[in-house]
Amino acid sequence: MPESEGKIKKKDFKIAVFAGDGIGVEIIQEALKVLKLISDTRNISLSLAEGSVGGSAYDLYGVPLPQQSLDLALHCDAILLGAVGGPKWESLDYSVRPERALLTLRQKLDLFTNLRPVVAFDELLDASPLKKEIVRGINIMIVRELTGDIYFGQPRGVSKEKDGRRIGINTMIYSEDEVRRIAVRAFEIAQKRKRNLVSVDKANILESSELWRDIVSEVGYNYPEVTLRHMYVDNCAMQLIRNPSQFDVILTTNLFGDILSDEAAMLTGSIGMLPSASLGNDKALYEPIHGSAPDIAGKNIANPLATILSAAMMMRYSLSMPQEADLLEKAVAQTIKEGFRTQDIYQQGKKLIGTEEMGNQVVKKLRKLLS
Ligand code: IPM
Ligand code: MG
Repeated sequence: MPESEGKIKKKDFKIAVFAGDGIGVEIIQEALKVLKLISDTRNISLSLAEGSVGGSAYDLYGVPLPQQSLDLALHCDAILLGAVGGPKWESLDYSVRPERALLTLRQKLDLFTNLRPVVAFDELLDASPLKKEIVRGINIMIVRELTGDIYFGQPRGVSKEKDGRRIGINTMIYSEDEVRRIAVRAFEIAQKRKRNLVSVDKANILESSELWRDIVSEVGYNYPEVTLRHMYVDNCAMQLIRNPSQFDVILTTNLFGDILSDEAAMLTGSIGMLPSASLGNDKALYEPIHGSAPDIAGKNIANPLATILSAAMMMRYSLSMPQEADLLEKAVAQTIKEGFRTQDIYQQGKKLIGTEEMGNQVVKKLRKLLS
């Protein structure tokens, strides 16, 4: 119906939901509560289609990413994913490990930009192992390249030498086009933030990093208002602990980004707080950066906030709802401010609650903010 006839048509979005393994199953439920509330109260209609990935898919179909799940991913507007993996599947061949599902999705959907915002909530400063003065106010966007590097480079594998001894090999490789497209994304992001970009490599040792550095500098000429610094990865690992507030946007490779983002997560107190978005040109996947935590799965104690914050990123980048995304982030901040804590961020004197209750608290606050 045209707008002039009085009613605005609801926007339809199709979302693929992959809960995965371990705590993935519980935390996804809490993010879905939030999305349902948005869809009930806003001019948007979300159709959610669940699919199977990871170890649980392997158990059912013998592969971590069955064809029907890949098809679902290829034909939706956005994907929300919980977590994959667990000790049960650790002895499987690499080609069918749960983690393969993630890597295949990243590759087939060309999700080359991984955004990992590292934001410290004031109320959680005590939960960080670092001194409060060091972590207060940090707000870093890690831009990790996600479809290249040693994760996908050929040749790879374990083979036998002539003398019968085995060698393991992986290949760190970047083409200039791969570097250019992620660098452009990072500069665009930096331009909308504090215009301070640190590109992280190991150019004193690695040729692939030398190329990385060249291309990033070249792209930088088009963004004169962004200050670009190059930093070696070992130094960056140290600087993140020594003085994290020097960072605004960090641009880095697939492998270095994997490592640095886990390190940076601890600045915020818990890896249970960090969301992520993996963006291609027209596809996107949203997931918490933590794993499936099999040791605490099924106990209603996992922290659902990283997944809920991933849903906020989905609202911002895939559903064109930046204001609602802000409100959801505000609802999370309020929940923390009121003292509600899952065990991973618990401190004495606060209110210890479970996964479900945490989701309910956020929903309660969001409902108010939306009205
Ligand atoms: C991450 C994870 C993945 C990665 C694994 C599960 C494949 O550690 O998203 O950071 O290494 O990229
Ligand atoms: Mg990782």
